[in-house]
Amino acid sequence: MGFGRGKVILLGEHAVVHGFPAIAVGIDRGVTAEATIGRADLLRLAPWGLTIQPDPHGSEPLERAFAAVLATYPERPPLRIDAQVELPAGAGLGCSAAIGVAVLDAIDAALGVQRSREALGAAALVWEQVFHGNPSGVDNTMSAVGGVALFRRGQPLEPLYSNKPLHLVIGCTEEPSSTKEMVASVARQLREEPKRVEGAFEAIESLVRNAKVAIETGDHVGLGQLLDLNHTILSSLMLCTTKLDAMCRAARAAGALGAKMTGAGGGGCMFALAPKPEEARRIRDVLGQGAFIAEVSP
Ligand code: MEV
Repeated sequence: MGFGRGKVILLGEHAVVHGFPAIAVGIDRGVTAEATIGRADLLRLAPWGLTIQPDPHGSEPLERAFAAVLATYPERPPLRIDAQVELPAGAGLGCSAAIGVAVLDAIDAALGVQRSREALGAAALVWEQVFHGNPSGVDNTMSAVGGVALFRRGQPLEPLYSNKPLHLVIGCTEEPSSTKEMVASVARQLREEPKRVEGAFEAIESLVRNAKVAIETGDHVGLGQLLDLNHTILSSLMLCTTKLDAMCRAARAAGALGAKMTGAGGGGCMFALAPKPEEARRIRDVLGQGAFIAEVSP
């Protein structure tokens, strides 16, 4: 069985595309997949009822992504892959990367290919490139590796450790978000106003550096403040919606130590950091339908 986790970017999304560091976590919810030798290459995605055939020139990104992944296995029999997706799509939780990682992991298992989880994550970049054009690689890496880590494009992943678990509550706006469009919007702003946007990236980098220390020392009050500040900077890059802002405010009022949008923005999900499991449950109830708790151990 193959597995790809969903991910939550704690701090640093968008800046990470431009070479700055980000901190992200892998969550237990994700995508499972099983590959069997079949008569033709086929990918079935439940619960969406989708059946995909690989096509490098197909009109659907899933057809092209599936073809790109299969092309990385030079000699192989036809494969049928059944995947079960347990993440909302287009919501900032790394659904597409989790599908790619699960598919590759399932194929590896069926063909007896051995590689590290980090190498698996790196191999899934070809899948992500089809969807996002210029992915930093944080989603596919965290989907494969999990835990809590500092990611920087082109550098080895730096896992973070602490004896204090992070009680995260994830809330979804139900507003669809396109990573490709949001990344393109930030790139456009960077071209048009380089000083302002570079300043925002540098400020985010310093939040990430401080957050690393806060996680490692278990200072969750400090970490919560850094999350709030990162949300404000992302807002200045026009990535937050009225609903994302309202959900972050509601989570803070319900006892969160901090809250921010996560992922590409423009809709999608936010998350809150709760001090303890009781508060996490209260915040989840305030955030409404679709909200869920993810406890992550650094
Ligand atoms: C998307 O989950 C995170 C972004 O930073 C894009 C990327 O890193 O590729 C917005």
